[in-house]
Amino acid sequence: MTAPVEHCVKVSLAERSYDILIRSGLRGEVGRCLRGLGFSGKVAVVTSPAIRRLYAPAVIRSLRQAGYETRSILIPDGERAKTLRWVSAILDELATARFERGSVLVALGGGVVGDVTGFAAAIFARGIPCVQVPTTLVAQVDSSVGGKTAVNHALGKNLIGAFHQPRLVLIDPETLNTLPTTEWIAGLAEVIKYGMIADEEFFAYLERHMVALRKREDGPVAHVVTRSCQIKAAVVREDERESDQRRILNYGHTVGHALESLGKYRTLLHGEAVAIGMVQEADFARYLGLCPNEVTARQHALVREAGLPDTLPRVRFSELWGAMQHDKKVAHGHLYCVLPERVGRVVIRPLEPSTFKRWFASRGDKQERRPGSRHVASRPKA
Ligand code: NAD
Ligand code: GLY
Repeated sequence: MTAPVEHCVKVSLAERSYDILIRSGLRGEVGRCLRGLGFSGKVAVVTSPAIRRLYAPAVIRSLRQAGYETRSILIPDGERAKTLRWVSAILDELATARFERGSVLVALGGGVVGDVTGFAAAIFARGIPCVQVPTTLVAQVDSSVGGKTAVNHALGKNLIGAFHQPRLVLIDPETLNTLPTTEWIAGLAEVIKYGMIADEEFFAYLERHMVALRKREDGPVAHVVTRSCQIKAAVVREDERESDQRRILNYGHTVGHALESLGKYRTLLHGEAVAIGMVQEADFARYLGLCPNEVTARQHALVREAGLPDTLPRVRFSELWGAMQHDKKVAHGHLYCVLPERVGRVVIRPLEPSTFKRWFASRGDKQERRPGSRHVASRPKA
């Protein structure tokens, strides 16, 4: 039997630099990898019930074999865990177990576990190391990399948070095999986003391999995870704190976040909202004369091929615009939008309300059900 191929992507941020290791079976080597970084303190594995059943035993065994004193901390599955209350619960456990500066938090799970654990690590004892072990496609290609950590506030998603880079990201693509189909497909939206914002060749690869990706074939999955991490690492290296170019990672998110919030985070998965956002924002770019028809059509075809929704739910302009104003992308009263010029290249532009309203009206009735109802009508069969 040949050893599985390992890919290593470096996130170069001076003293905050770290590696992203990608290899099947890596979940059983977390302990060895932590030793490799020289960590000697206690380790807490933060996870949620679904992941604990599937993957915590291998991770905890590896930590104990490497000689670590280990405990696990459980938070609920899904977005409802992204609250200060659950951060506080983690901090209580750490304080009670006398964790200190040299102790380590391991985030084992999807983007929710990663964001909550990362934030707890950012504030406990003014910052302790965090190692991300992401288990969803969204987390492996996006949330585990780049150091954004956060929980939600009643008035806004991810409103309370900190930049806290992980010390290591360990990606085991095998864990993706147990992901529910809708979660898998939602993750493909973030992958398509990387092709649109930065790499036409990668986009063309996705066009050629979407059938294999829908079937989660090992080779294409490892390739898209690795290439996505490379693109994200390059963007974060240039603009860690999102003062400028990192904003391109928000392509599809201006409309997407607004739809998520209008649906109270229950009607669309994050990736589904981003897919609709990318299709709509590209159509807006076409309306402005920034983006040729062939480009919007090509993106639209790939989004549909992935099985993602593409159509704006039925919503009034005032509702959509109002929800967009709560976005963190509003700066000095201006809302910015990331717009494609061609596949692999986007620009950041202030969003003019009157122009956006004219585009919105020009769309006629190409809309579906209200965002409060589960959005399924335009999602092709999985
Ligand atoms: P999630 O963490 O809620 O996971 C989705 C579901 O899949 C959960 O029910 C989870 O228990 C389950 N699950 C996870 N791994 C599994 C596996 N291997 N097998 C079976 N089930 C599994 O959702 P997500 O899409 O991973 O992350 C979304 C969150 O990430 C949002 O809160 C979003 O704001 C955040 N996010 C953060 C960043 C960032 O840069 N920090 C980027 C993108 C998204
Ligand atoms: N997910 C967007 C970012 O990390 O900046």
